[in-house]
Amino acid sequence: MDRKGLFVIKQRDLFLFDKGVLKMIIDELTSKNGHLMIDGVDSVELVKEYGTPLYVFDISKVRNQIKKFRSAFEKEHLNYQISYASKAFAVKAIYQVMKQENVHVDVVSGGELYTALAAGFPSDKISFHGNNKSLMELQMAVKNHVGVIMLDNFHEIELLQQVLKESQETIQVMLRLTPGISAHTHKYDQTGQTDSKFGFDVKSGQAKKALKLVLDNPQMKLLGYHAHIGSQIFGTEGFKMLAQKMIEISKDFQSEFNYWPQVINLGGGFGISYNEDDDPITASDFISVIGQELKQDCKEVPEIWIEPGRSIVGPAGYTLYKIGSRKDIPGLESYVSVDGGMGDNIRPALYQAKYEAVVANKMNQTDVETVHISGKYCESGDILIKHQKLPQTEVGDVLAVLDTGAYGYSMAMNYNRNPRPAVVFVEKGQAKLVVKRETYEDLIKLDGNY
Ligand code: LLP
Repeated sequence: MDRKGLFVIKQRDLFLFDKGVLKMIIDELTSKNGHLMIDGVDSVELVKEYGTPLYVFDISKVRNQIKKFRSAFEKEHLNYQISYASKAFAVKAIYQVMKQENVHVDVVSGGELYTALAAGFPSDKISFHGNNKSLMELQMAVKNHVGVIMLDNFHEIELLQQVLKESQETIQVMLRLTPGISAHTHKYDQTGQTDSKFGFDVKSGQAKKALKLVLDNPQMKLLGYHAHIGSQIFGTEGFKMLAQKMIEISKDFQSEFNYWPQVINLGGGFGISYNEDDDPITASDFISVIGQELKQDCKEVPEIWIEPGRSIVGPAGYTLYKIGSRKDIPGLESYVSVDGGMGDNIRPALYQAKYEAVVANKMNQTDVETVHISGKYCESGDILIKHQKLPQTEVGDVLAVLDTGAYGYSMAMNYNRNPRPAVVFVEKGQAKLVVKRETYEDLIKLDGNY
């Protein structure tokens, strides 16, 4: 069986199929001429048309993941809402996909809010997050009647009070709590522990004080509580503890304030598999754990909201590069360079994230060597993948890095004045350019003379 084919379709999605069916699916995905196919579209043809580096999103995968979340909730008979955490990938076209899928989105800045609104995304399905929303951002949110403002701190409560007073509007809010739970993930991806910049701390009484302020303000309609413990989490344990903690907090606050939340939002953070070592939980694993906790502990089960970002768009994304120079060092692994790198994917340099890649025009060739895939940026740390097994490569081959859909384009930058890549969506054999490649002109558009 072809190892590359397996990586591309991700064996974990297919463990239910027998080998015969699996082989058929692999043949389908890797066309006869050995090209990587992405939802029926030849990746090598995409490169010819749109150039490299190029982000490609398999939109069928995005829709399927949303379906998986939906059916997991429905299996547990829970009232729910899926809110796509758009920081993972925030361009107009993805907000339009979310609108078609009838999910909510959450935004964390005026810029994300602006993009969602420009895409025609309904404002009442937008939740506005952030630990330092400005007066201008809150005014923008209120003026556009966003669905919920996720209150994060006392300064924000004051600012929002001011905005509501001036505009004479009312708005739904939720309180972001810091429940005191550490997720087992990279330290930059932890948010639920007490020592965090996000949310109202429960232990020290901040959360109670915030609750009182909100309940006393008739222009703020409290929908419930929110907590997010971190990102790229693999086990169910953290979510189980979080569900228990949120119920405990709700009961405690109910006895004092006679308030029971209509919604409990448990954030996002569901891990995905970037490489063979990653073993993520499925949507139904954690939703059933959450469901059990709530059903056994609550008389009146609140609506459960989740905010997945990575798990919705991550596995759907591919970054296509052209292979250029190569450096062979006697006795050491060679460096094979591509025409992108940390500017389009900062995650390996920032979090030591591990990806896997395939040679998109040589899917039917076997691996012959192990190399480092390096980027073109002037940083020694600009290594996209260490120890990648590859077939024999040549200048001009197309390298596809897998699972790059989350926090790739959204964290892209112009270091070394490299333009940001284009983005193409593919679905059922059709491709559409949804974000143009930046040009050199674009790079100097904001520059003035001196
Ligand atoms: N909700 C809240 C309040 C969040 O802060 C986040 C992520 C999410 C939901 C979505 O988490 P996800 O399902 O995508 O894991 N740049 C980092 C990830 C930062 C995540 C920040 N917050 C990375 O590339 O790993």
